[in-house]
Amino acid sequence: MQNEKCMDAILDEFSRIAKDYLQHINDRSVFPLPEDLEKMKRMDIPLQEDSLDPEQVIHELHELGSPATVTSAGNRYFGFVIGGALPASLGANLVAGIWDQNAGIDAASPVSCFLETLCQKWLVQLLDLPQETAAGFVTGATMANFTCLAAARHALLQKQGWNVEENGLFQAPRIKIIVGEEVHVSVLKALSMLGMGRNNVIKIPVDSQGRMKPDGIRKISGPSIICAQVGNVNTGAFDPMEEICEIAAHMDAWVHVDGAFGLWANASSHYKHLCKGIQKADSWATDAHKWLNVPYDSGIAFVKEKQHLISAMSMNAAYIVSGTKRQPYHYVPELSRRARGIEIWAALRSLGTKGLARLIERNCQLASVFAETLSNAGLRVLNDVALNQVLVSFGDSDTTKRAIQKIQQDGVCWCGGTEWRGITAMRISVSSWRTTEEDIEKSANAILRIVNEEIG
Ligand SMILES: Cc1ncc(COP(=O)(O)O)c(C=O)c1O
Repeated sequence: MQNEKCMDAILDEFSRIAKDYLQHINDRSVFPLPEDLEKMKRMDIPLQEDSLDPEQVIHELHELGSPATVTSAGNRYFGFVIGGALPASLGANLVAGIWDQNAGIDAASPVSCFLETLCQKWLVQLLDLPQETAAGFVTGATMANFTCLAAARHALLQKQGWNVEENGLFQAPRIKIIVGEEVHVSVLKALSMLGMGRNNVIKIPVDSQGRMKPDGIRKISGPSIICAQVGNVNTGAFDPMEEICEIAAHMDAWVHVDGAFGLWANASSHYKHLCKGIQKADSWATDAHKWLNVPYDSGIAFVKEKQHLISAMSMNAAYIVSGTKRQPYHYVPELSRRARGIEIWAALRSLGTKGLARLIERNCQLASVFAETLSNAGLRVLNDVALNQVLVSFGDSDTTKRAIQKIQQDGVCWCGGTEWRGITAMRISVSSWRTTEEDIEKSANAILRIVNEEIG
């Protein structure tokens, strides 16, 4: 087939597949059935010598791959913290695929660079961060934490006359790293990748919801990075940012906020109070693939003082044209990369400020309804449902694990498991624009049916 003709055929086939997949997304088991996973293995064949018709390749991918997908893009997926993909952000993802832009350099993609700069401005306003804040568009909150903490490391060591980017960490002055006992593992991983060590941290005790008790920070002095969190991955709880930043102001400290999903609460007048004080921090990490509902992958690193971010991330070579324009590669670990700003732009443009606030508020309200329904039926809800996260216990650890397994096999909805302060629990995270009250009712009914019929 001629190349152009072949491209037309692929686009037609793609459109058919997309409709077929999305129209039936809620009719299927949320987690693929064993037979679908078995069927997927038919793709495991020796790679043939001759080229194949691309249309056939895509057809095969849909036939054998689509049934094996987890329908996390659907209405009743409550695992981890996985947002859906808004129609506009999904559409933009496809357009971005067609454009195939290298977002690293303005010279390689003026449109991507322009949209990222615009998104930086919109997001800083929307999330109510200091006006001068710079943003880097990365793969997710893990890399956003890494990027922000690299900027923090640079700033604190520079103050002590040490250039960490040039000289490394072997002879560097010490920096103390302060985290809450409930720090997310991605922060620890970022610290390890930055040569600061997972275990080289001072752990501050937390309360019953996982919030740092900031008094524990008061007795620490010297150059420090305080890693706070808004939105605990289990409970959804927020560290008391006002108090933490107030203590930090009397120390030589950089405050970093891991707000993988919780930072979006600052875009809602109803939930903004939870973030009180975050403007006084120095850096913030968040995910767009969580609560902004853009397709994977998409995270954002925000740093108040741009020069620290740029010092930590930039590189130069004669062939990389660098004019006066914002060059995205100065803000993130990568040089070449996907143009993530395109989907973020589309999500923001389609939602508007009110639409985003409504999405967050609706998810939180649905999480409350979910918790109330299960609690009224006699199940134990372990957390204060202040956001979109619900932790449920079905009894002892084995019973809860069995219930989770049955719920996952049942296929009406999907929820994961966790341990919360020594108690085995099921996690529910309501994070998708698609989820409705009907979905919560259907999911709660399925859970209660399983409890009544199979768990007892
Ligand atoms: C609080 C928190 N931080 C960081 C992360 C890591 O995010 P990602 O998986 O996008 O790297 C998560 C993921 O759930 C999270 O909840």
